[in-house]
Amino acid sequence: MVRLPAPARRTDPAGHRAGVAVRIVELRPPADARPLDGEALTVRYPRNPGPTLRVNFVTSVDGAVTIDGYSAGLSGPADKLIFGTLRMVCDALIVGAGTVRTEKYDALRLDAGRRAWRRAHGLPEFPLMVVVSRSLDLDPEQEIFSDAPIRPIVVTHASAPADRRSMIGKVADVVIAGDGDVDLAAAVADLRRRGATQLLSEGGPQLLGALIAADLVDEFFLTVSPLLAGGDAGRIATGPDGPPREMSLRHVLSSDGTLFLRYVRSI
Ligand SMILES: NC(=O)c1ccc[n+]([C@@H]2O[C@H](COP(=O)([O-])OP(=O)(O)OC[C@H]3O[C@@H](n4cnc5c(N)ncnc54)[C@H](OP(=O)(O)O)[C@@H]3O)[C@@H](O)[C@H]2O)c1
Repeated sequence: MVRLPAPARRTDPAGHRAGVAVRIVELRPPADARPLDGEALTVRYPRNPGPTLRVNFVTSVDGAVTIDGYSAGLSGPADKLIFGTLRMVCDALIVGAGTVRTEKYDALRLDAGRRAWRRAHGLPEFPLMVVVSRSLDLDPEQEIFSDAPIRPIVVTHASAPADRRSMIGKVADVVIAGDGDVDLAAAVADLRRRGATQLLSEGGPQLLGALIAADLVDEFFLTVSPLLAGGDAGRIATGPDGPPREMSLRHVLSSDGTLFLRYVRSI
């Protein structure tokens, strides 16, 4: 029996670059910090010049993805404002079927101010809604489909049940990406070919785990809500193991103890 050398690590276990001196600084808003208005927020959550896939999640301090099974208990007015801003600037909103079912997603609508912003920036009034599902266990009468301002897309794979495919095909464009399972990279490429370069995923955890595994996440917006949720709620990502990926911190915003973190992919 021989002892094989350990595989080389790109990063140390904490994700820090080897050989870089530790430097700790305190981040605190200056006493005269002015609150950010809607325009200032848009500058901090801009459309990017190139194709980007962003993810937005809210978690408790102890890492819970839900309270009593829903994300609503973790969110607050400032989180909703940023959530709405991210929706406003995206071309397509991607969400897993589990979140659509649990959170009873309704039609993707924006208020008049956000629609006006989009028109002024040469964008369609509403982003495209994209649902990812293997089983196509989706209700065509759910408002996300029945009341949609523009026809949504459902991404699935070639082996999805044909009867469900034709049923959901009445209310959405069905995109086949992959044979026995959904190929998320192919789905993202398809959306980009349709002109949707700014993609925003609102989860949930299984979809996020798969996006991470496929190395498709370019930016991460994490809201840390000042709550200890306890209980047995899952974390924000679940999926196959893979190498950790380094992210760089772009900004930290705060509102009443809630933190809003923006991380971008490290090159
Ligand atoms: N805190 C937050 O910010 C936040 C955000 C979103 C969701 N949530 C919570 O998360 C919970 C839902 O968790 P979840 O993991 O079930 O959510 P999810 O990832 O949205 O849904 C899982 C389902 O989505 C489809 N799916 C996901 N990844 C896929 C992939 N790679 N390929 C094909 N289909 C894929 C499958 O649908 P089919 O079963 O149809 O095949 C799968 O069963 C809810 O309680 C919700 O409230 C929290």
